[in-house]
Amino acid sequence: MTTNSVVSSQPRHIAIVMDGNGRWAQQRHRPRTFGHRAGVKAVRAAVEFCRRRGIEALTLFAFSSENWQRPQIEVSALMDLFLRALEREVDDLHKNGVRLQFVGALQAFPETLRQRMQAATSRTAANTSLTVSVAVNYGGRWDIAQATQAIVLAAMRGEIQAESITPETLAPYLCLSDLPAPDLFIRTGGERRISNFLLWQLAYCELYFIDTLWPDVDAACLDGALQDFAQRERRYGKTSAQVARAS
Ligand code: IPE
Ligand code: IPE
Ligand code: MG
Repeated sequence: MTTNSVVSSQPRHIAIVMDGNGRWAQQRHRPRTFGHRAGVKAVRAAVEFCRRRGIEALTLFAFSSENWQRPQIEVSALMDLFLRALEREVDDLHKNGVRLQFVGALQAFPETLRQRMQAATSRTAANTSLTVSVAVNYGGRWDIAQATQAIVLAAMRGEIQAESITPETLAPYLCLSDLPAPDLFIRTGGERRISNFLLWQLAYCELYFIDTLWPDVDAACLDGALQDFAQRERRYGKTSAQVARAS
């Protein structure tokens, strides 16, 4: 495998719903948090995979707006795990040129965690090899609502006319607007749903679902996703003949 090789049929931005940690643990008669810990290892492998393949951006769904409804003990174990994983991983990520950022309603998190996220973001801000965005307390509907709030405030300040709001003028207010739109969405763990992940940003994304539980995901699985992606014809509303003529 060559480092940083880019072929045109390769996605620029991969977004992953990392699902199946709980079932992975239950199959081993262990508590669900055991699965979340194993999931962190799979995150490390996925980041390394994307970096080596020259993917520009990887966005990982780590905690949804809806996940607060889980048992309190699981929620606090997840918070603890985020904190410890951040402490442990940031040095290596930084050394490898990874830019790390967090998207979601971050104000809901404990102060220590927020500070840690902010510190990791600032420290890695100038890195250029791969942008890893971790979606925490994130929901696609929340994202559209917060963008709407921001654009309404801009309109009230007279910076934008309400009549001139279009998808293109709203887009910069949404999370991840600094990145190319995700072109490959992967969901592990067998469910075929988006679960309120990037609703706006996935508008023209290629969707790929696998049964493999997240802790079992390795380079071979991700390679399978890239191979599948390479076979897709992206038409964006045009006909197949038009797409063939343009390429
Ligand atoms: C995904 O795995 C991780 C988070 C949502 C934090 P799950 O915890 O949803 O695992 P399953 O779906 O119960 O197996
Ligand atoms: C989606 O997984 C959220 C994350 C992976 C963080 P869930 O396991 O929470 O999704 P549902 O509830 O099965 O749709
Ligand atoms: Mg799940």
